[in-house]
Amino acid sequence: MAGLVPPIHVFSLDEEKTWMPGTRPGMTENVSKEHAMNVNIMNVDYSTKIPNNVNLSEDRQVLKALEGWHPGYMDWWSDMGPEGFQQSLVYLRTAYSVDPRGWAKFDYVKMPEYRWGILLAPQEENRVIPFGENFGKPAWQEVPGEHRATLRRLIVIQGDTEPASVEQQRHLGKTAPSLYDLRNLFQVNVEEGRHLWAMVYLLQKYFGRDGREEADELLRRRSGDADSPRMLGAFNEATPDWLSFFMFTYFTDRDGKMQLHSLAQSGFDPLSRTCRFMLTEEAHHMFVGETGISRVVQRTCEAMKAAGISDPTDIAKVRALGVIDLPTIQKKLNLHYSLSLDLFGSEVSTNAANAFNAGIKGRYKETQIEDDHQLKNATYPVLKLVDGVIKRVDEPALTALNMRLRDDYTQDCVKGLLRWNKIISLAGYNFKLTLPNVAFHRQIGEFRDIHATPDGVLIDDATWNSRKGEWLPSPDDGDFISSLMKPVTEIGQFASWISPPKVGIDNKPGDFEYVKIET
Ligand SMILES: [Fe+2]
Ligand SMILES: [Fe+2]
Repeated sequence: MAGLVPPIHVFSLDEEKTWMPGTRPGMTENVSKEHAMNVNIMNVDYSTKIPNNVNLSEDRQVLKALEGWHPGYMDWWSDMGPEGFQQSLVYLRTAYSVDPRGWAKFDYVKMPEYRWGILLAPQEENRVIPFGENFGKPAWQEVPGEHRATLRRLIVIQGDTEPASVEQQRHLGKTAPSLYDLRNLFQVNVEEGRHLWAMVYLLQKYFGRDGREEADELLRRRSGDADSPRMLGAFNEATPDWLSFFMFTYFTDRDGKMQLHSLAQSGFDPLSRTCRFMLTEEAHHMFVGETGISRVVQRTCEAMKAAGISDPTDIAKVRALGVIDLPTIQKKLNLHYSLSLDLFGSEVSTNAANAFNAGIKGRYKETQIEDDHQLKNATYPVLKLVDGVIKRVDEPALTALNMRLRDDYTQDCVKGLLRWNKIISLAGYNFKLTLPNVAFHRQIGEFRDIHATPDGVLIDDATWNSRKGEWLPSPDDGDFISSLMKPVTEIGQFASWISPPKVGIDNKPGDFEYVKIET
């Protein structure tokens, strides 16, 4: 049966290897441009106000709807996008094609003039639905009536996260540790803006009037707003400093990666094609997180070594060096990992089962899994609270899909920890960053009503309240980190608490002016 399903064509999505495909060694920008023209591979049409590769100039109704939405988007960007820097020239990557061999170009752009395109990955000929009750049937090019509400809900939830993170990060430009980091922040921000456009395109093209209303709502909600918050918890939290930003892009953008992968399997082909292209950009966001944390850890280790500090948990001594101590990095990690786990929803979920059965949302790397892709008799071990003890319990695999995706996510998270711990051990320190137990600090699912230590030991309320400051950032920790967040805007310079990157963006040298600051 599995042979019926062609492997889904995704671009290389491994952020560690190809985080910026346009600049792979041996490929110059000119070659890739020329190639893109020769093969006519759905390049972006800039002839309309809304750059796109979906032939909008012949789809007047959708074009009109998008043009109507555009001013609201620009208002949102100026109200809720990065604070300041709107007149600065930023060295940004812009997607101009969906050809995996070369899809981006780099140039100085003012953020409000960033030309986001609406981009769908190329349509796969004869693509079939790769899972669920409709397994092996042709993928849908239009929304099937019976799945309309579910599809719309999933697109709205995904769409809501895109502007939310821009809102969360809007103050960070003022305290960037270098022009390199400032540029990366803005790159992430403009691309999240483009992802919002991609979701709004789906809503307006395929969901008629209610799709248009949902598109307007996406501009109305605000991260952290008491009356009209964003839909998911982690997207209403503050991102108060750059360590949080790196943790967010490592852990929370990675939840996005898992969700986009599952939606890239969707039987609704336009959603699949949209998500496949978004994943190519998302890889860079996680790269920013992984290398950001690496550079913080690196700098801390170097400073401790130079000062002859042998105990990395001697927090006062380490902080006196103007770097962030490893125990505080662990606390930030605990916070962002646990908030991100909540994004996967309840471990056992009939919604997830229904979306899978219907062919709407698949599993991570569905087409590479060898089974019936219908999960008729399969079970999956789920961590549950049984008589006050955390136990693995076999559940029907269909209802355990959230748990499975969360497990895939955890596995994916581990790679970064291995790298960070290698930096620590190479520096000669006996300290390991670890992922906290999944029962730690949860608001959603099986463990929402209990307290557990990062090691997974259940504790009572009183113990939690007296000890939580050992595991999660305290106000004091926040104050210390804030005290380090002084902007560094000289070309090629970096703040005291972070190492320079190993390589520049687009292979630029260390003294490259990534942002020409204009106030
Ligand atoms: Fe995104
Ligand atoms: Fe992202």
